[in-house]
Amino acid sequence: MGLDAERIVTKVLKVAALPAVAMKFSEAIKDPLTSNQDLENIVSEDSALAAKVLMIANSALFNFPSKIDTISKAITIIGHKQLSELILSCSIVAMFKDIPQDVVDMEQFWRHSISVATAARILAASRHEQNIEKYFTAGLLHDIGKLIIFIEVPKYALEIINQGKEKNELMYKVEKEVLGFDHANIGALLLKKWKLPENIVSSVYYHHMPSVSSGDIIGPGIIHTADVITHALQFGSSGDYFVPEFNEKAWESLDLDVEILSSVIEQLNVQYNEAVKYILG
Ligand SMILES: [Fe+2]
Ligand SMILES: [Fe+2]
Repeated sequence: MGLDAERIVTKVLKVAALPAVAMKFSEAIKDPLTSNQDLENIVSEDSALAAKVLMIANSALFNFPSKIDTISKAITIIGHKQLSELILSCSIVAMFKDIPQDVVDMEQFWRHSISVATAARILAASRHEQNIEKYFTAGLLHDIGKLIIFIEVPKYALEIINQGKEKNELMYKVEKEVLGFDHANIGALLLKKWKLPENIVSSVYYHHMPSVSSGDIIGPGIIHTADVITHALQFGSSGDYFVPEFNEKAWESLDLDVEILSSVIEQLNVQYNEAVKYILG
């Protein structure tokens, strides 16, 4: 059988518009005439978001030696683009925080996603990638397609989880059989409609199979590796009972020493708890 992913996403879009502040911020930074004061005014429209931005800026994720006590300082230090992505990520998590708990434990789901986001950011930093926040966002949203399935077709979601357990199979494989598409496909479709950057969309689309990515393999490779590390450490859960198979080609393409993994895990242990505290509140 096959359901229509496009139609399901269109339904989600009707109820889940991207938060105005996040949209305004990302539009504003495209205009070279926008000042830091303009950006501060936009963030300050949402006081909960402004507080969150300050907490994240002061967390172990950034590790700045001095306290960042104003939004304009956070904007200067973190950078426009990176802050825009952080705001977007926090807004999306807030949007999907309160969905019914009968199919998935949302706290565990976001813990899994936050761990993948944090590990992806650390891996990207180890590779000296520019704009490491992009990887954080992609990690945070990599399994968002599961939420779409849980919300829009809950009957199938339960069937997928049960079949996965019975057959010892990963959810994305069962999803393909039951729905005709998997959570990576439908998640990427939603992010594309939300006009997120192309590399974030493709990192999400190919996170289970980075080596078949038609374009850049680094983004999907980083998210895939971060996902495997997170499963192995059992930080949170997005509904799967098994650790996904590690794609060696993706790891090779990252061109990182194996020894670096212990340092990645060490940093993840510290930063994961901080990120959970600040993002989930
Ligand atoms: Fe996944
Ligand atoms: Fe995942």
